[in-house]
Amino acid sequence: MPTVTREDVLEALRQIHDPDLHRDIVSLGFVKDVAICDGAVKVVIELTTPACPVRDQMKAEAERRIAQLPGVRSVQVEMTAQVRGRALAPEDLIPEVKHVIAIASGKGGVGKSTVAVNLAVALAQSGAKVGLLDADVYGPSIPKMMGCQGERPLVESGKIVPIRRYGVSMMSLGFLLEEEQAAMWRGPIVAGTVRQLFADVRWGALDYLLVDLPPGTGDAPMTTAQTVPLTGVVIVMTPQAVAASIAGKSVALFRRLNAPILGVIENMAEFVCPHCGQRTAIFPGPGARAFAEKLGVPFLGSIPLDPAVSLASDSGQPAVIAAPDSAQARAFREIAGKLAAAISVASVASSA
Ligand SMILES: Nc1ncnc2c1ncn2[C@@H]1O[C@H](COP(=O)(O)OP(=O)(O)O)[C@@H](O)[C@H]1O
Ligand SMILES: [Mg+2]
Repeated sequence: MPTVTREDVLEALRQIHDPDLHRDIVSLGFVKDVAICDGAVKVVIELTTPACPVRDQMKAEAERRIAQLPGVRSVQVEMTAQVRGRALAPEDLIPEVKHVIAIASGKGGVGKSTVAVNLAVALAQSGAKVGLLDADVYGPSIPKMMGCQGERPLVESGKIVPIRRYGVSMMSLGFLLEEEQAAMWRGPIVAGTVRQLFADVRWGALDYLLVDLPPGTGDAPMTTAQTVPLTGVVIVMTPQAVAASIAGKSVALFRRLNAPILGVIENMAEFVCPHCGQRTAIFPGPGARAFAEKLGVPFLGSIPLDPAVSLASDSGQPAVIAAPDSAQARAFREIAGKLAAAISVASVASSA
């Protein structure tokens, strides 16, 4: 019987390409360990995110290709993940946070916070370490949506300890102030507060820190982009024409601030009938996909409107928790995977 070598195994794995990074998994450094004993092959493949959408597919392909090699009696492929971080500057406020992703929208009410909480929980469910910063200082809604309204964070050694729910570490002005206090804030105070939400909170080691911005192009988005290095920005929009023109302004602002646009998410474009599953478009117009194409940014996906899920969210349970099998929850998980892949692409590109 022929014997299989480490080089044979690597050669077989070189045939597998990462669909987002467009390179083979060996040259990307994903193959961490190859052990061969008497025709039994064990391989560890380390992806750049636990939320990788092609994880299972890649595992199956690796197993198949190794099994085909002469001299192989058994194959074991272990998939792990290590999110690769950014290069750190000395004045970095949050050095243990690998990626900061801002969730922005041109106007309010498009579902930005709904998207932020569901993506955060979906990423945490995949095994990533996730934080969620509510930078909507005018109308902080994360505490309510995550079912922890009224909780008050502890302060330890001068730092505020995030509130944890559904595997996500959170901070919001909503935890620190009474409801009526937030609305009257003005420019410099907003900037200072947003900065404190990064610097004065003990975020700890995180793979992804999602930032729910207030709508528009005001002080909070500006401060966020100037305070911490953003891996990128996600734009949430509904498909009306007016939403597109306002979302265009957000894209222009972040481009001016040198923050890459990771993609566009469309919300509430369709209604999926809970009885028969039929899909009905709600707004006329070309939709967010056309908007993304026009601006040359990725389209990450579309989340259907679902009144039941909205109710659950109002009572403190994001869709991915309250109705994990719903069309909406599936859309959120798929988008979380695409976003994680886009983040990997952005960080590999910037470190190359
Ligand atoms: N896909 C959806 N299906 C049903 N209701 C939704 C959906 N997305 C958002 N909503 C509801 O729309 C309202 C506004 O959403 P929210 O996330 O607070 O928007 P924003 O943060 O952009 O102001 C909320 O009541 C929310 O529950
Ligand atoms: Mg909001």
